[in-house]
Amino acid sequence: MLDKLEPLPADTILGLAAACRADPNPDKVDLTVGIYMDEHGVCPVFDAVRQAQRDLIAQETTKAYMPPAGDEAFNRGMQRLVLGEDSAVLRDGRVGSVQAPGGCGALRIGAEIIYAASRDARVWVSDPTWPVHFPLLGSVGLSFETYRYYNPASHGVDFDGMVEDLKHAVPGDVVLLHGCCHNPCGADLSLEQWGVIADMAQQQGFTPFIDIAYQGLGDGLDQDAAGLRLLVERLPEVIIAASCSKNMGLYRERAGLAMFICRNEANAQALVSQALVAARRIYSMPPAHGALLAGRVLADDELALSWRTELESMCVRINGLRRDLRQKLEASSGQDFGFIEREKGMFSFLGLTAKQTLRLRDEFSVYMLDSSRINVAGVNARNMDYLAAAVAAVL
Ligand SMILES: Cc1ncc(COP(=O)(O)O)c(C=O)c1O
Repeated sequence: MLDKLEPLPADTILGLAAACRADPNPDKVDLTVGIYMDEHGVCPVFDAVRQAQRDLIAQETTKAYMPPAGDEAFNRGMQRLVLGEDSAVLRDGRVGSVQAPGGCGALRIGAEIIYAASRDARVWVSDPTWPVHFPLLGSVGLSFETYRYYNPASHGVDFDGMVEDLKHAVPGDVVLLHGCCHNPCGADLSLEQWGVIADMAQQQGFTPFIDIAYQGLGDGLDQDAAGLRLLVERLPEVIIAASCSKNMGLYRERAGLAMFICRNEANAQALVSQALVAARRIYSMPPAHGALLAGRVLADDELALSWRTELESMCVRINGLRRDLRQKLEASSGQDFGFIEREKGMFSFLGLTAKQTLRLRDEFSVYMLDSSRINVAGVNARNMDYLAAAVAAVL
C-alpha cells in the first residue's frame, strides 16, 4: 500500500535553508527561514525563558495531560499581552481562548471554527500572504479570495486596491489580516487604515481573522497590537491566532493561542467548547512545555520585565539593521532602498527578479526566496557589506 506514494518536493523555504546549510562557501548568507538570529547568527534563548525553564524543571511534579484548553496562566497572560491590560472585551468576558500548538495550530483551530460556523465562508487573504495560510486553512475545506495588498512598484501597501477588493466581502466571509510585520512584505497598515477596515467590517458584516506572529518585533508590544485592538474594540466578532514562536523564541516548543472575541460571554464559552472538540479531532491535547514557560514569564513581574527588555533590544536591532542595510545597498547600487527602512519586522522584498535571486545563490551563496523576500534578522555586521555588494552585482 505505502510504496505507491511518490516523494514530494521539500517545502520551498526549508529546502532553500537546507541548500544553504550544505553550501561549503564560508561567506554564504542565509536569509531564508523566518527565524530571529543575533549578531553571531544564533537564534537565542531568552534569559527569562531559560530561568522559567530552570524553575519549571525543579518544580514539575507530573507529565499528565494539560487541561484541554491549555495552561491558565498562559491563556490569561497571552490574552492581556495581545488585547491589552485594560481590554474592555476581557472585562466583559467576551473572549474565549484555547492554547494551540504554535501560531499554526491556532490558525488551524480558527479555520475549524469558521468552517463549523459557515461551510461556504470564503477567506480573503492578502496578495501576497504567508504561503502556509493556504494549506493550513484550505485543508479544512475553506475557499480563498485574494485582496490586493503589496504594490511592488511603490514598495508599499496598495490600500486603494485593498479597499476596492474587500468591498466584495460579504457577511459570512472572513478577512485574514496580518496583525503586524507582514510576512512576506513587511509593509503594514497605518492605524488610520486599520480604522477604515473596521468601518468596512462594520458596514459589510465580514469577520476579521488576525494572524499575529511578530508582536514586539515591529515597533513594540503595544504599538504592534494597536490595529488589532482597534478592530477588537469596535467589532462584535474577531478571531485571533497568536504565536509565541518569534517574540519568546519558543519556535520548537509550539506555543500559540486561538482567541475568539464574541458578542457575549455565553457565545465565547460556546466557541471554546467547539474549539476543544476540533482540537480533540486533530491533535487531542495541547503541548505543555512552551506554554508553561511563556505562562510563567508573563505571570512573573521580574521575568516579564527581563523578557520585555530583551525583546525590545531585538526590535531595536532589527530596525537598526534595516537602516544600515538601506544605506549599504544604496551606496553599493546607487538605487533607492528607502522602503527597507520603512518596512517592519523580519521580512522585506528586495525587489529583485527570480533570475537575480538565482544568480545571488549560484554566484555569491546568498540565499533568499525567489520572490527576493529576505529575513532581515539573517543580516549582521559581518555579512552586510558582502550582501550589499552581491546585490549590486546582480542588479
Ligand atoms: C505570518 C505567520 N503566521 C503564523 C506563523 C506561525 O508560526 P508558529 O506556528 O511557528 O507559531 C508564522 C511563522 O512563521 C508566520 O510567519
